[in-house]
Amino acid sequence: MFQQALNWINGQHRQSGEGLGPGSSGDQVWHIRPPDLCQEKSGLFLHVWGPEGYWHIVDGETHELLQMTGQPVTLADLVQRRPEWGVQREMIAKVLRKVTQGLAHTAPPTETQIENVSLNLTQACNLHCATCYLSDRERSPQKLDADAVIYFLEKLGSRLSRAASISLLGGEPFLNPEGVLAMAEWAQRRRLSCNVSTNGTVPLGNVIPQIRRAGLRVQVSLDGAAARTNDAIRGVGSYERALNTAQALIAGKIHTTLCMVACRENLAELGDYLRLARRIGASEARILPLKRLGNAEQNRLEPAPQLAILQGIAAELAHDPSLETLLQSDLYAIMRNLVRDSSRRGSCGSGTQTLLVQPDGGIFPCANSTWAEGQLGTVKDAPESVVAKGAQWGAGISIDKLSHPCYACVVKRWCLAGCPGETQQREGALRNRHWNCADLKESILFMMWQNSAAETVKETGRTRL
Ligand SMILES: C[S@@+](CC[C@H](N)C(=O)[O-])C[C@H]1O[C@@H](n2cnc3c(N)ncnc32)[C@H](O)[C@@H]1O
Ligand code: SF4
Ligand code: SF4
Repeated sequence: MFQQALNWINGQHRQSGEGLGPGSSGDQVWHIRPPDLCQEKSGLFLHVWGPEGYWHIVDGETHELLQMTGQPVTLADLVQRRPEWGVQREMIAKVLRKVTQGLAHTAPPTETQIENVSLNLTQACNLHCATCYLSDRERSPQKLDADAVIYFLEKLGSRLSRAASISLLGGEPFLNPEGVLAMAEWAQRRRLSCNVSTNGTVPLGNVIPQIRRAGLRVQVSLDGAAARTNDAIRGVGSYERALNTAQALIAGKIHTTLCMVACRENLAELGDYLRLARRIGASEARILPLKRLGNAEQNRLEPAPQLAILQGIAAELAHDPSLETLLQSDLYAIMRNLVRDSSRRGSCGSGTQTLLVQPDGGIFPCANSTWAEGQLGTVKDAPESVVAKGAQWGAGISIDKLSHPCYACVVKRWCLAGCPGETQQREGALRNRHWNCADLKESILFMMWQNSAAETVKETGRTRL
């Protein structure tokens, strides 16, 4: 039984299996802090340790073992209490060592690198989507000067991770096609991955071969599986035009993603959306939760609960597991990967791992933190100064500050207070709990169960948890 628990724990996490070493002598004292949260489902137990950012799901016997190690005990004590465990001493020691290691894993380095740079190629747009996180007053025809941005990014040197991604956003980026191509070609020279999000209604014409040559990945936004649903949000005729663009990109052998922002209006179409993406040959389908920002907030659009999105996708996958190949960077995949790691992160990375450049060259911590007080500098400034201000910003949103309202939350290492930019814009304070706190917490716990379900089901032969 303890062998099975060890297999599960290894399967539930990415960094697993290594360095367990031999068992321990009967004299070693084991003392493992009880978990901060314990949930039971069908005889299995989810344990979560908040500050350590560690969790696992184990069977009832291992749960009992960990209750006993809440007080200092030796293996000999344990076997005295449960003589039938005598033959499993080695395995018990391995389980306890594994949990101890999980709880003790080291904090990430304080010196972080920039992992993503978002660029608003322009804030002008030919559409006026009800969901848009931009407000009308932010729309401006100014175009990003790609040369100035490239000069700044080059100066960042090793502060820019070699695995960084460059995201081209807007407004509508293809209202500045020269900028899109210049940035994509630079990223290609630097071997960085580069993606662009487009509404798919600006004709791409002869740009498609250049997009392919530059290795640019394209996301086409489509907010529904049905034309009626999408067009109610993104404007009449936008469904057909966007779908045609997506198909032209796919025919041009470009990595193409269909992206839907999930709200109450399109929540019922999750399955149809995944099947639409598969039917047209898209590389990915990306379903993201709506943020209450800009026009979306002004229009009082109701976000779909994250838990409902995840449950909806999980139900589709249970029905047709082959759809999972489409899910690489959507909410489901992000959350699945997030909980696979035990986490010691102190913030979402805004300002420390991400930057956003506006068309006028202004640099901000991330795409959702673009108000004047948050500005870190401009592309003309010395990178050290921008990075130093980013670090200050990151410290300001850290959940490890005792004064942060999320400090004592059991899932804080994975939630990281939600999106602080959204919190600031909605509530006028960066360090509040997220407006969607309860849903975020439930979603994380759901994904922990969901993540281990495959392992557990495999081992126990159960059909579901
Ligand atoms: C702001 S758009 C800019 C690029 C382009 N105009 C487009 O629509 O793809 C970038 C992405 O953010 C998504 N988006 C817009 N408003 C959002 C919101 N309030 N919450 C979450 N995502 C949003 C869009 O659907 C799109 O996929
Ligand atoms: S979501 Fe994109 S297409 Fe729609 S208004 Fe905003 S920037 Fe324009
Ligand atoms: S927003 Fe809520 S769930 Fe997220 S870290 Fe804060 S208290 Fe926890």
